[in-house]
Amino acid sequence: MSIHPNDVWEPSSDRHTGTGALYSDAARDHLWMHFTRHSVFEDREEGGLGHSVPIITKGEGWRIWDDRGNEYIDALAGLFVTNVGHGRTEIAEAMAKQASELAFFPLWSYAHPRAIELAERLAHNAPGDLNRVFFTTGGGEAVETAWKLAKQYFKLTGKPTKHKVISRSVAYHGTPQGALSITGIPDAKLPFEPLVPGGHKVPNTNIYRAPEHLREDEKAFGRWAADRIAEAIEFEGPDSVAAVFLEPVQNSGGCFPPPAGYFDRVREICDEYDVLLVSDETICAFGRIGSMFACQDLGYQPDIITTAKGITSGYAPSG
Ligand SMILES: Cc1ncc(COP(=O)(O)O)c(C=O)c1O
Repeated sequence: MSIHPNDVWEPSSDRHTGTGALYSDAARDHLWMHFTRHSVFEDREEGGLGHSVPIITKGEGWRIWDDRGNEYIDALAGLFVTNVGHGRTEIAEAMAKQASELAFFPLWSYAHPRAIELAERLAHNAPGDLNRVFFTTGGGEAVETAWKLAKQYFKLTGKPTKHKVISRSVAYHGTPQGALSITGIPDAKLPFEPLVPGGHKVPNTNIYRAPEHLREDEKAFGRWAADRIAEAIEFEGPDSVAAVFLEPVQNSGGCFPPPAGYFDRVREICDEYDVLLVSDETICAFGRIGSMFACQDLGYQPDIITTAKGITSGYAPSG
């Protein structure tokens, strides 16, 4: 079916919820959507634009359909989530089998087979000596947890004042309070400030916005950008900095791959100042840029990897 782009936002089908409301009306009235300008969906008489909420009802591979039967390419895989595509019945069947066997049990002194098997599999595939997995419910919680882990690690190893985090401007690392401190997007943080103290920003690796004299020389730019991390650690005080959080390919701001030599220099800096290098692979892991973990493609060894999304391809929330 071919559609005019303007048609997409017109009133959706007449499918109703259990209470008899149109899906799009019930969504407008009761569903709080993420990063969404809700006024777009409010009635015109109330100052809105009167659009109906698009309702996605079905997916198969890389294709999705709305409730009027319009077909779309799910080009972002949800939000970099559905790595293996929609409609994988083998995953649905495995989930149904697990749900009928054991719904939930805390990993609190106990373990269960699926958690053990997945932890073992991830450990075997992780680079270097990374060999232990802490499960969370998503990327933001993984980032939050990695920050806590870094702080606790230094408390237990005789450097209790190391607690701050360096990350890059315009980088997105999630929305819980700690992760939002690490996130480098001022507009996303402003409504929730003050956030967790200790998040400091350095320039990102967008070569188009590099200082003019470095725009033609990727290696020199990589060195310069990495050295800003050393500078920030010196400025904040090496005894106060616990970790550097970086995405292998920074998604927010336009997908910035690391310039040549960037991660080699970052690794050197982290070693020199005894700062943990956290590779935030919430988006980049599980084949998105090639290997199981993107740091393997880019040839650097992190101290911690945070991940989520593709780990379950969105069939269940996990990180
Ligand atoms: C690099 C990065 N870290 C953390 C997150 C937060 O993940 P989640 O939305 O699963 O909390 C995201 C989400 O896109 C991300 O891209």
